[in-house]
Amino acid sequence: MDKILTLGIETSCDETAAAVLCGGRNLLSNVISTQIPLHQKFGGVVPEIASRKHIVNIMPVIDEALTKANVNLSDINQIAVTFGPGLAGALLVGLSAAKSLAYALKIPLVAVNHLEGHIFANFLSKPELEPPFLALVVSGGHTALIHMFDYNKFELLGQSRDDAAGEAFDKIARVMGLPYPGGPEIDKLAKTGDATAIDFPHPKVDGYDFSFSGLKSAVLNFLNTAQMKGDTLNAADVAASFQRTVVDILAEKTLSAADEFHLRKIVLAGGVAANSSLEQTLRQACERRGLEFFYPSKILCTDNAAMIACRGYYQALAGDFADSTLNAVPNLGIRTRD
Ligand code: KG4
Ligand code: ZN
Repeated sequence: MDKILTLGIETSCDETAAAVLCGGRNLLSNVISTQIPLHQKFGGVVPEIASRKHIVNIMPVIDEALTKANVNLSDINQIAVTFGPGLAGALLVGLSAAKSLAYALKIPLVAVNHLEGHIFANFLSKPELEPPFLALVVSGGHTALIHMFDYNKFELLGQSRDDAAGEAFDKIARVMGLPYPGGPEIDKLAKTGDATAIDFPHPKVDGYDFSFSGLKSAVLNFLNTAQMKGDTLNAADVAASFQRTVVDILAEKTLSAADEFHLRKIVLAGGVAANSSLEQTLRQACERRGLEFFYPSKILCTDNAAMIACRGYYQALAGDFADSTLNAVPNLGIRTRD
């Protein structure tokens, strides 16, 4: 059995995270120090505060990950670190730690794309999962459909042309006076609302691209108009109707891509994968069509370093290592790899 130990490091946004992975799937530790309470009073992530908190937390978090995994730093064989996308200052903290450790220990460094990492969270939750499959990545900053041929070979089928789905959740929640991050709050509120109460528009976008800015504006206009008229709003109905629209858009494109490319497995990834309605809708649709459906456990849906270690492990198998000049790429997207 493969006993390679990968240390994963993730600091792209508001979680300082480190994890130790043995081989490709055996997660030994997964430590996440969240900054959410710190940013909550500002209604969103404040980049400088995030960087400063990462610099305070990074070494204790790495130490804790090693202790929980019951390994020493000298046992680690390789380091996988997120180099983008994310906040520049935040990414640089993780990168500096990873580069220094790799240099001091004389071990290889792997540069991981955070969005690819989200997909790989599924291999940790479901060790039996193997490519090929169709992946829907829905995070705070990105929405993308990816045809995974193999671990290191995939094609980007489409992505959002404007806002990400998570961004729309967060923005609408903010205007509705819900705390940051808004996605889980809307999810909770929607459970008591009527999802058919309000018909919000579905964007018309060709192929497998998405667009959420029109929907976001329509919901914000609806809220503003109601406020100006002095109407009493049923916030749960607004949350449920908005969520239903997002889920319908995501599910419709995902299922037609699975049909077109004859893919029998659908994999959900990214923070919005934690949305109960998205998970339920896709699971039921997959059951009806006889498709297999995978999504990560809640703790692996949102940002973590376990998924970064897993992605890094498979890149290392393909000899895809970084050198000492590695830099942060804040606007890194997800691209076809062959
Ligand atoms: O993947 P992630 O942790 O960070 C990024 O890489 O962006 O995703 C964070 C996003 C936020 O927009 C958050 O509101 C959303 O995921 N999110 C949810 C839920 N849990 C987290 N959105 C809808 N429903 C949820 N239950
Ligand atoms: Zn993420």
